[in-house]
Amino acid sequence: MTRIRKAIFPVAGLGTRFLPATKAMPKEMLPVVDRPLIQHVVDEARQAGIEHFIFVTGRHKAVIEDHFDRQFELELTLVERGKKADLALLSQDLPEPGTFSFTRQQSPLGLGHAIWCARELVGNEPFALLLPDVLVQHPRGCLAQMIDAAKDLDDNANILAVEEVPADRIHMYGVVGVGAAKGKAFKITKMVEKPKAAEAPSNLSITGRYILQPQIFDLLEKQVAGTGGEIQLTDAMVALARTQPFYGLKFEGRSFDCGSKIGFLSANVAYALERPDIAPAFRSELRRLLGEK
Ligand code: G1P
Repeated sequence: MTRIRKAIFPVAGLGTRFLPATKAMPKEMLPVVDRPLIQHVVDEARQAGIEHFIFVTGRHKAVIEDHFDRQFELELTLVERGKKADLALLSQDLPEPGTFSFTRQQSPLGLGHAIWCARELVGNEPFALLLPDVLVQHPRGCLAQMIDAAKDLDDNANILAVEEVPADRIHMYGVVGVGAAKGKAFKITKMVEKPKAAEAPSNLSITGRYILQPQIFDLLEKQVAGTGGEIQLTDAMVALARTQPFYGLKFEGRSFDCGSKIGFLSANVAYALERPDIAPAFRSELRRLLGEK
């Protein structure tokens, strides 16, 4: 498969599930330990070799753009105070100039529409799509695992990360039907957005990481509103699947749906427990809170 150089991050959502925290601050800036959600997802894309990071933002999201820029006054103060470790941390995360692009979704018409807003920035090449609500915790990030798996697949393959979900949560996700195995992946035979558990083709949900061919943009342009009155990416993928293969990859690692409060809180606990500088003290604090010794 052609090398995947570009990734889209749709960050235009209103974050109503986290009000009032997200009244004046984008939900993508909520911290998981000490890094914003969006930074974790950008880290995953960087590890997978992504070179151009495309953000589809909305009004009141300018702080995301600021986060990926220099903060001159802060840097100056850190220099003056000799805080070398903090300075190194900031410069390690700072993108190369020209590798981050921002465009706005002007109306909240759905995920499919948000992706379509990035068409001019992506151009005519396959690209990655990462939904920042989802974090996957694994030393080899989910997108890197997908790019590894793509080596065994056709050049025009579309690839979706999938995972098992319990029946009582299946109606919250896109769900795939399972066909023949190919390398580490399997052929997708069906895709349905937010089905009832009884009508779902399997218990495998689409987990917020995609590798898609650029032909999706023409289909998104024609796509009419689907589930929830929104232009759905899944509906356009169903149309694309008539002419191109779709594969699912059951990735390794633990996923967190940070669009939900429980998922977000669990991610904070899980990521803190992996941090050598915090884990020992945090573990005993957790035990204390849970009433154990
Ligand atoms: C979106 C997709 C859905 C996918 C989910 C993963 O839904 O439409 O197919 O399973 O992300 O988080 P949303 O969560 O935006 O409603």
